[in-house]
Amino acid sequence: MTGLVVLGSTGSVGLSTLDVVRRNAGRFRVAALTARSNHRLLLDQCREFQPQLAALADPSHLAAFEAGLRAAGLSTRAVAGAAALEQAAALDGAEFVMAAIVGAAGLLPTLAAAHAGKRVLLANKESAVMAGPLLTGAVRDHGATLIPIDSEHNAVFQCLGADGEKTIGDVQRILLTASGGPFLDRDPATLDQVTPAQACAHPNWDMGRKISVDSATMMNKGLEVIEACCLFDVPVDRIEVVIHPQSVVHSLVQFRDGSTLAQLGNPDMRTPIAHALGWPQRLDSGVEALDLLAVGRLDFGAPDLVRFPCLRLALEAARSGGAAPIVLNAANEAAVQAFLAAEVPFTAISGIIEDVLAQSSVQSSDDLEQILSVDHEARRTATETIGKFRF
Ligand SMILES: NC(=O)c1ccc[n+]([C@@H]2O[C@H](COP(=O)([O-])OP(=O)(O)OC[C@H]3O[C@@H](n4cnc5c(N)ncnc54)[C@H](OP(=O)(O)O)[C@@H]3O)[C@@H](O)[C@H]2O)c1
Repeated sequence: MTGLVVLGSTGSVGLSTLDVVRRNAGRFRVAALTARSNHRLLLDQCREFQPQLAALADPSHLAAFEAGLRAAGLSTRAVAGAAALEQAAALDGAEFVMAAIVGAAGLLPTLAAAHAGKRVLLANKESAVMAGPLLTGAVRDHGATLIPIDSEHNAVFQCLGADGEKTIGDVQRILLTASGGPFLDRDPATLDQVTPAQACAHPNWDMGRKISVDSATMMNKGLEVIEACCLFDVPVDRIEVVIHPQSVVHSLVQFRDGSTLAQLGNPDMRTPIAHALGWPQRLDSGVEALDLLAVGRLDFGAPDLVRFPCLRLALEAARSGGAAPIVLNAANEAAVQAFLAAEVPFTAISGIIEDVLAQSSVQSSDDLEQILSVDHEARRTATETIGKFRF
């Protein structure tokens, strides 16, 4: 049985991962699970999967969690704090690590998994945005494997085929599809009135709150462009964003011989998760086969960078490179958090990010210490900037 660590097991991707594991009984041994603070769900998961280790990022819930493990008669060892996540990610005897923590908090555990030579199933796109070269360098130097979980990047990975590193030289363009989110056709003049619940109500995907807001602003697609540059080692001008409201074509790759390959499927994260867990084989995912007759039509269009200023800012940051993606990511996390806490309107998100980017003077950031320092400084600036945008 393959040992599997699920970082962020209580989240949307974490739950889908455990569902795929459940459907493939006897194939995976869940070695470790982690959460931030949801110790009750983590305990339920420990009862079912009996991991050797369970980690909570927030230590204030450790005592209650340990008491629950004892009462359930489980031998799972409980640990807490930021270092505990890295400990779980590098656990001996676990070959695979699902990196499904949301945000910059996922960076250090994801790097730890790469340093420990694991198969890293990368859902935490923020790691690639903040520290792409460090992450891919650690994968290369420590014999790890990186398989993308984002449905778009997983689609590109599948289109590139088994010899992806060889075929990437023949790629003319990568087309990343985007649903356009819940506000694709909404009157832009009314966007300042949208609530967190409306922004989180994605038409096709059921996801965590942060990525749902990122989808509504299309920052998610911008982060994915930066992630794609890093994962597939292609310049930003060879990546194009295409609006595809049905979310059935997950992405496409165009080769120099005129071939365009695409990966299609119902919008359900269990497909890319099962692909990455089984690769190079295929596993049961629980996802129905696509019914093309029921889908009927597939629409494609160009994104509107005026309606979606966050996508524009992300593309500019991708072109600037250096520290810009780190600043963009940190400012976005702070702005989205403020929006979800009903402190600022939806339309302030892009304004906050633009202001923070304008205030940043750092040109490059190559090592981990510099990256964390740029992230920290951008969050500090964002906190001040948010004050100017409050209701
Ligand atoms: N959801 C999707 O369909 C989807 C698709 C593609 C890519 N992704 C990417 O996958 C990642 C996870 O997304 P999600 O939608 O699954 O998020 P989510 O539902 O919000 O779950 C986040 C997980 O991370 C944990 N967590 C949150 N903050 C943490 C912190 N500071 N330290 C340690 N753990 C923390 C949460 O624990 P608690 O439950 O205790 O808070 C939870 O287990 C994101 O990077 C996202 O962009 C998601």
